[in-house]
Amino acid sequence: MKYYLEVQFTLSGPLPDESKEEIEELLKLFAEKTQESRDKGEFEFTQWNTKDNKLDITISSIDSLTPHVAVLRLRKQLAATLGKKYRVGLRGFNFVKYTIETELEDKPVKEFSLPLVNKLEFFEKEGKNYAKLDIDPEIEEDFVEKGAIERIVRRVGEKISKQHYGAKSEHHQISWYSGEKKHFTDENPTQLMQKANWIQRTNYRNQWILTPTLTTLAEALKQIMVDYVYEPLGFNQMMIPKLVDWSIWLRSEHAEGIYQGGFEPYFVVQPNSADPEYFEEIADYITITKTIPSEKLAEKVSAPIGGLSYAQCPPFWSWLQGKTVAKESLPIKVYDWSGPTYRYESGSAYGFERVDELHRIETLFIGSPEQTKEIGMQVKDKLRVIFEEVLDLEVREAKVTPWWLQQSAHEDEMDSAEDLVVGTIDYEAYMPYRGKREESEWLEIQNISIIGQKYPKGFSVKAEGNIELWSGCGGGSFERFLTAFVSQKGLDKNNWSEKFLKYIDKLPEPVKFH
Ligand code: SER
Ligand code: ZN
Repeated sequence: MKYYLEVQFTLSGPLPDESKEEIEELLKLFAEKTQESRDKGEFEFTQWNTKDNKLDITISSIDSLTPHVAVLRLRKQLAATLGKKYRVGLRGFNFVKYTIETELEDKPVKEFSLPLVNKLEFFEKEGKNYAKLDIDPEIEEDFVEKGAIERIVRRVGEKISKQHYGAKSEHHQISWYSGEKKHFTDENPTQLMQKANWIQRTNYRNQWILTPTLTTLAEALKQIMVDYVYEPLGFNQMMIPKLVDWSIWLRSEHAEGIYQGGFEPYFVVQPNSADPEYFEEIADYITITKTIPSEKLAEKVSAPIGGLSYAQCPPFWSWLQGKTVAKESLPIKVYDWSGPTYRYESGSAYGFERVDELHRIETLFIGSPEQTKEIGMQVKDKLRVIFEEVLDLEVREAKVTPWWLQQSAHEDEMDSAEDLVVGTIDYEAYMPYRGKREESEWLEIQNISIIGQKYPKGFSVKAEGNIELWSGCGGGSFERFLTAFVSQKGLDKNNWSEKFLKYIDKLPEPVKFH
């Protein structure tokens, strides 16, 4: 990699002449040390000068220390030298010009641009491909400190590899199968439930009314989860917030994958002012016209402050954020069904198996690696019992691309020690109306994951005595459970398993319409 940087430091005042020799010496030493510490590459301060309260330095580097890192280190050394002896302070720095040339593994399929890069060019030299980046001189100092330059360079490669190979292909490996089960229908479950008035579409996209009949079934499923999973394994119920601000999705890395193929959130905005006068005009308009002045309204609200809960567990982590969990409190085992979660399902209207507003139950556990692995396996075994024995469903388990990698649109970045155990298992149910077992698409109804250190790290959570912290979680929606169930067993209670019926005292008669 080849770098060229012109940087300008701003000083609290002009430098006295006698300081110049010292600066010269400091730079010389810095360059020498840099050269010595590496067996290859070239690092050089090509020139420097100072005028008024400015100090300009030009750095060129080939396969050696990056100039911006040199600037960050130099800043400290200069401040120490100049401050003590000459009482001149360092106010900050800005880039005048920063170009980076980096070799590429592949030629880009098509040109693109990147934030904080003013110019991005691609060229070939001696059969090799390169990118030349002009970093935006306005880039904030703290972005440079926190690794933005490194991430810009990495992003160039990532985007090109995505152009060639597309998004990472989804991993799917079946690891267990219940075997064939008896089916009582081969009709579309959404249509069956609609015709029976168990569910009804609302005016809003992929949102449904869950009638008392269907809600009774959902309640039965909840109770089954409690009796078969949560009670025996010692999980406690809690209520995780359902409005998620950006700070959470930044830490969970969901924000980075926004609308990139795995994370499609509903956004939340705030009013610019809650003063009645501010909205009076809007209220009058609605009163008179009985319509909503959407555009005017949009002017009176903020940019999104975050969104509605999407993956359920990320907002849990603000509870533990920055804390050290006592050893005696580990493992933490909780579950939540305190409210719906939301996903913007693009495309046309879907059935009950793919809804924008879904009612999920989330299972979450945190502990040492051993505890987390053990709990993950226990939950998996119990879920298997629920699906296979209690509901008598034809289901299978498949090892799939972990949900957090899909949602954050990140390349695989687990370390190899975690690789063996960290991952997601999906439960999938056969849907007879979709066709043959071997050819049709099965429905994902639940996942269970061992996530490793990702969340404790992302939210800076520690454990007493430096125990390594891992987490795991699982989610399943009642919409999916019931779609799968009806798709195999139909609506007639006589065909439902005894173990399930035990949880239903009385199924409310659907309301009829004329
Ligand atoms: N958080 C996990 C998911 O989004 C499990 O609920 O799938
Ligand atoms: Zn989760």
